[in-house]
Amino acid sequence: MTAPTVEDAAHLADEVARRRTFAIISHPDAGKTTLTEKLLLYGGAVREAGAVRAQKAARHATSDWLELEKQRGISVSSSALHFEFAGHRVNILDTPGHRDFSEDTYRTLMAADSAVMLIDAARGVEAQTRKLAEVCRLRRIPIFTFVNKMDRHGRDPFEIMAEIEEVLGMDSIPMNWPVGAGSDFRGIYDRLGRKLILFSGGKHGTHRVDEETIEGEVGDPALVEAMGTFARDVKDGLELLEGAGADLDRERVARGDQTPMFFGSALTNFGVRPFLDAYLARAPSPTPRQSAGVPIDPVKHPFSGFVFKIQANMDPDHRDRVAFLRICSGQFVRGRNTIHLRSGKTIRLANSTLLMGKDRAEVEEAFAGDVVGLFDPGIYRIGDTLSDEPGIVYAGIPIFAPEAFMRVEVAGVEKRKALEKGIEQLVQEGVVQLFREPTGGSASWILGAMGPLQFDVMQHRLKSEYGVDLKLGKLPYTIARWPLAGFDPEDFRYSERIKVVRDRDDRWALLGHTSWDFDRLRDRNDTLVLSETPDPTLFERSL
Ligand code: G4P
Repeated sequence: MTAPTVEDAAHLADEVARRRTFAIISHPDAGKTTLTEKLLLYGGAVREAGAVRAQKAARHATSDWLELEKQRGISVSSSALHFEFAGHRVNILDTPGHRDFSEDTYRTLMAADSAVMLIDAARGVEAQTRKLAEVCRLRRIPIFTFVNKMDRHGRDPFEIMAEIEEVLGMDSIPMNWPVGAGSDFRGIYDRLGRKLILFSGGKHGTHRVDEETIEGEVGDPALVEAMGTFARDVKDGLELLEGAGADLDRERVARGDQTPMFFGSALTNFGVRPFLDAYLARAPSPTPRQSAGVPIDPVKHPFSGFVFKIQANMDPDHRDRVAFLRICSGQFVRGRNTIHLRSGKTIRLANSTLLMGKDRAEVEEAFAGDVVGLFDPGIYRIGDTLSDEPGIVYAGIPIFAPEAFMRVEVAGVEKRKALEKGIEQLVQEGVVQLFREPTGGSASWILGAMGPLQFDVMQHRLKSEYGVDLKLGKLPYTIARWPLAGFDPEDFRYSERIKVVRDRDDRWALLGHTSWDFDRLRDRNDTLVLSETPDPTLFERSL
């Protein structure tokens, strides 16, 4: 390989610096689809009003995941959308809005450089948002907060700030402050830009909204007049904020101790563009990611990336399988060779697609921060690293302890091959986790998932893609732990409460009825170290 020219290096640095790759984290119904659509409209990525919501409505006919089967092209598009706006290349990583808590969303977060936390102004921090925000903080993914649905009667902004602090342990720093609320939501005061932005005329399905900007301090007569009856409230609110004295601190945002906060309404499109502008100016471009404790610079290092998602049979007409690669450093060039680190093999990046809407375009080049879909002949696994240089290993994607378990009931020899093949495939995609009893073949398979919907997806896809009916028998376990030390399988030979199994990578794992089972074990054996994940180091700042 020839060394890059100075121009190439400068071009790469510019391309990386203008990239913003994020995921939206929220509880169902907070407005993720609506906000995504508005953002895409700004970027000119969708022209049709209501395009994204129409797709979502179609998927909701049954459940997101099951309908996803029929809408495969569309659902995939929503896992990596991109658009250009104000000189930035924006990549939105999204997951179908399934209601069940899912590992899929977690994996997607691993590929993001920042997260947008969407909160419903009336509902505050809800359960799923809390879980996802915790993952972001654990992984040091900076969070930007958008308080949505300000056009409806909601909570007091200070109450929302207090809740974020109490529930998530983060200080929220309002970048703007709402003027009015509910049907009187008129605009926002931009605290850093020292200007009032008033909105009118916004409606669902369009990005057209009239904005009137008046520069000045909140006490200025022109602003007081424009804010009318809300002038007093806004002034008091801002004085309280100034009094609290918390300033935005990039370092603290990067550590997840602070979140810049914005107010708006995705539906009426009030405050979306000011949010987008401020977010793009402040959110990080791709930053170095760790390979065995060594930071890999996105610009200085040659091409590398990791697979965070695999999806098979996306196109019902072609049995294909796509591995989604998050590029962490350098430039991706189609047709070039690179190393698949787990196997040590050199592979050619021949068929790569960039997915957008229903269209698939061949990608000729992409840069650190981007996501490309690679045609997968069956070589990739979630967490795999690809790199031009040997020795790089992005510490995979953590496996989460499942909370629901089912035994695979194999009826007869007929179709067993298809069943095994299908299960292997879907396990590779991460639809469910597979465990086996230490002895025995497929008759001893146990599937683990975070929630029951994952089993439904498994059954549905096995039926439609492999033509087999998967029969499952419920198991009483609700918790899995991986022993890291002090473990002897013999100790469990007669245990009724705990089942000893092997995981997919042939590591020991223990399934218990309740966490109490494990507490009792530890009381009896103080050398026993149990972990919620087979490789706890992955939870530390690994990516
Ligand atoms: P999700 O992807 O996070 O699940 O949420 P989605 O965008 O589908 O929005 C959920 C509901 O909240 C939708 O109403 C949507 O119109 C509404 N919504 C989103 N943003 C706002 C907002 O800023 N203000 C108000 N008032 N509502 C908002 P729906 O009744 O379920 O659907 P639809 O009848 O509007 O299509």
